[in-house]
Amino acid sequence: MKINVILSPLNVDELFFTGKTTIVIDVLRASSVIITALENGAKEIVPVATVEFAVKVSGGMFGGQTLLGGERNTKKIEGFALGNSPLEYTREVVNGKTIIHYTTNGTRAIVKAKFSENLFVASFQNLSAIVSHMISLNKDFEILCSGRGNMFSIEDTICAGRIVSEILKQKETVNLTDSAKASAALSKSYGKSILKILKESEHGKILLENGFESDIKFCSRLNSTGVIPYFSGNVIKLLPANNKP
Ligand code: MLT
Repeated sequence: MKINVILSPLNVDELFFTGKTTIVIDVLRASSVIITALENGAKEIVPVATVEFAVKVSGGMFGGQTLLGGERNTKKIEGFALGNSPLEYTREVVNGKTIIHYTTNGTRAIVKAKFSENLFVASFQNLSAIVSHMISLNKDFEILCSGRGNMFSIEDTICAGRIVSEILKQKETVNLTDSAKASAALSKSYGKSILKILKESEHGKILLENGFESDIKFCSRLNSTGVIPYFSGNVIKLLPANNKP
């Protein structure tokens, strides 16, 4: 098994992902929103790369059971039902719904990786579930850090590094690229307190300034769920084995 970490979506183009197995990470906060919405019964999430497309697809393609959710500059977008706080995606709000989801970095990274053969979404919340799944899948894979404005972000890289480190603990024959080794080293030196890392990150500081401290706490919870979001046919659903009747 070979693991590569892509430190910014800018480093690769869409075709890079063709036929690959990919995990997309956007710890603050797109991954958490997607995981939480699916955990709370959302039928599916449709990640989109522009607000215009979000508005277009919300108009009837999914039988009227749609909710527009997401953010621009951390704030709810005019006309959208939901912002990008995972705490908004409660069972009462999302159960049975299709969520059309636009975010500045996270959903755009997912859309960029859409040609992957297998595409998963991860954060600290479902880290151990994703690690177990990758071990059983036993394929080479890419971890795409969504970053911020196409730049490096420490929280996504530390989450990626933690995935790499946990796999190394459980599997002997793993090949790591330089960026995968660097991510694992970063996670080892800085990743002790996830909450502290999130609060001190560039994006965390912006969320704090905008009153989203409770979101940061929520996103810092390690292994709080076994939910694995899986992208297929332009929508994200629970990985079939994850689906409860
Ligand atoms: C993003 O995709 O850029 C984030 O999820 C932004 C946020 O929620 O503040």
